[in-house]
This record gives sequence, C-alpha cells and structure tokens, in this order.
Amino acid sequence: MIFTSLEQFSVDELYAVFDAAFSDYAVPMHLTVEQYERLLLTGDVDLGLSLGAVQDGRLVGFILHGARAISGERVLYNAGTGVVPSARGAGLALSMYKYLLPILSESGHSKIVLEVLTNNDPAIKSYQRVGFRQSRFLRCYRGEIAAREAHSGVRISPISLSKFERCASYGEVKPSWQNTMASIKHILASVKLLGAYLDNQLSGCCVIDPSRDRLIQIMVHPDYRGSGIATAMLQYIRDHYGKDISITNVDSRSEALHGLMILHDLEPFIEQMEMELSLK
Ligand SMILES: CC(C)(COP(=O)(O)OP(=O)(O)OC[C@H]1O[C@@H](n2cnc3c(N)ncnc32)[C@H](O)[C@@H]1OP(=O)(O)O)[C@@H](O)C(=O)NCCC(=O)NCCS
Repeated sequence: MIFTSLEQFSVDELYAVFDAAFSDYAVPMHLTVEQYERLLLTGDVDLGLSLGAVQDGRLVGFILHGARAISGERVLYNAGTGVVPSARGAGLALSMYKYLLPILSESGHSKIVLEVLTNNDPAIKSYQRVGFRQSRFLRCYRGEIAAREAHSGVRISPISLSKFERCASYGEVKPSWQNTMASIKHILASVKLLGAYLDNQLSGCCVIDPSRDRLIQIMVHPDYRGSGIATAMLQYIRDHYGKDISITNVDSRSEALHGLMILHDLEPFIEQMEMELSLK
C-alpha cells in the first residue's frame, strides 16, 4: 500500500473512488461529479492536506480534509473518509491517519473535526481508534412545512450579505462546518439570504438553497424570540419556495430549533455525531 497526497489525482479519479466507497452508505450518497466538486468547494478541501491509499496502482482509500482559520485557530475538517468495499476490514482508515497525523501536526493545525452518522459503527470504530472523541450530536430534519399562523407584523425580504453576517451572530448554537458563513460564501449565487423585520428592526434571518430545498441557517435576535418570527420565515419559505425542506446538522442541544422543527411537522431523520481530535 502506498500513501500519497491527493493533489496528483484528477477530479474524475477522486470522484470515482468516492462514489465506490460510498456506494453502500446508510444514506444514499450517489453524488454527481458537480455535487462532488461542490462538496470539495464548500468544505474548503485542500487536496495537499488530504490522503490517498494506492494498491496495485489503484486508488482504494482516501481522507479529504478541509482547512480554515476560525477565531485565530487553524482547524481541519474531515469532509469524507472512504475505503472501497474490496479493501475494507484491514484497518486502512486507521493506517491512513497514522501516516498523516505527524504531517498534519507539523502543519500548525490545532484539531480535526468531523461528522459521522451515529449508526455507522465501522466509521465510529475507526475514528475512535485514531483518537477522535465525541463533541456533540447533530440532527437532520425534513418534511413538508406545515401551515402555521405567524406574526402578522413581520415583513420578510431579501437582505445583503453584510446584514446577514450581522444577523448570523444571533444564533445560539454553532453551525456545522458545511453550514457556516465560510461555506455559504462559496455558493452565494445559488442561495437566498432573507431578513425578518419587525417594527423596521432586523429581528431574524435565514439562508436557504432553493435548488436543494435546503434551509441552511435560521436565527432570531434574543430580544425577539417567542413572538412568531421564525414561524413567519418558515411560512414565507413555504409560500415562495415550496413546502419540501430539509435542514442538516442542527445542534441537538438547541431546544428552540427542535421545537420550531416539530411545530412545523419537520421530522428528525438522521442523527450525526460530531467528533474532534486534538493535534496539539
Ligand atoms: C468507515 C470506513 C472508512 C472504515 O474503513 P476500514 O479501513 O475498512 O475500517 P477497519 O478495517 O478499521 O474496520 C473498522 C470496522 O469496520 C467493520 N468492517 C470490517 N470489515 C468490514 C468489511 N469487509 N466491510 C464492511 N465493514 C467492515 C468492522 O466493524 C470493523 O471493526 P472491527 O475491526 O472491530 O471488526 C469504511 O467502512 C468505508 O469506507 N465505509 C463507507 C464510507 C463511510 O461510511 N465513511 C465514513 C463517513 S463519516
């Protein structure tokens, strides 16, 4: 087995091994090449910090890492680990990390974060063997937004990125890597940034990606919570973009977000565990 940086491979080669490794994934993951490229883009994946495992000239395993500076800390994100079915069960995921960790520690990054489905035992075992530990649980919801009565004085309208960034600080929980501002900025052309105004005050905001029926973030200023502003935003989305929606990786400790989803008949359908490994 040869371990090597992923920089030397074409997107088609990287896509082919990703597709093969995720062919039997618990949640259907048959991405198109374009969706795969988008995953690399929104995750800030750096192929130089990612690794491939080559056997008999064929790429059979990989670890994709995204890299960002977050509040002065250099953080890595595991955007995908995969081993093709024929090479599984030989501890390859652990071997890839054993090879890569000294290199990543030298690179000045402080930690690696990742998300894994709570029922993906093979992956959880591999990550625990590497040393990753659970940091929080994340829930994904989906369904048809139910019709609910919203605050009649709330006006919803598109807002600028700078207004959205100010409003995004109202959130009470940290978004997951792929739902943060840094990721959203890569796909600004395809998302809608919406503001909720009450008495001409920006009291809440949300960002949706209509092409994927995906609500990416929603938040309400603490002073305005409990007065139907989030409901007004969801009703606006229902009326203007359609009822079907999903929202991924909501911090399970947020009772307010859970309550909002349940109120609108959006059901939790996947649970993920966020894990971290310190590189210090
Ligand atoms: C998760 C994954 C990367 C682990 O790779 P791996 O190198 O084969 O893992 P290991 O050899 O260390 O085995 C870990 C566990 O996988 C399971 N496993 C073993 N052989 C297996 C096989 N042939 N097929 C499937 N799972 C197997 C076992 O539960 C094993 O634990 P054990 O050693 O205590 O029996 C690989 O299963 C995979 O690519 N899965 C699909 C993609 C995925 O889920 N990625 C993670 C997303 S977060």
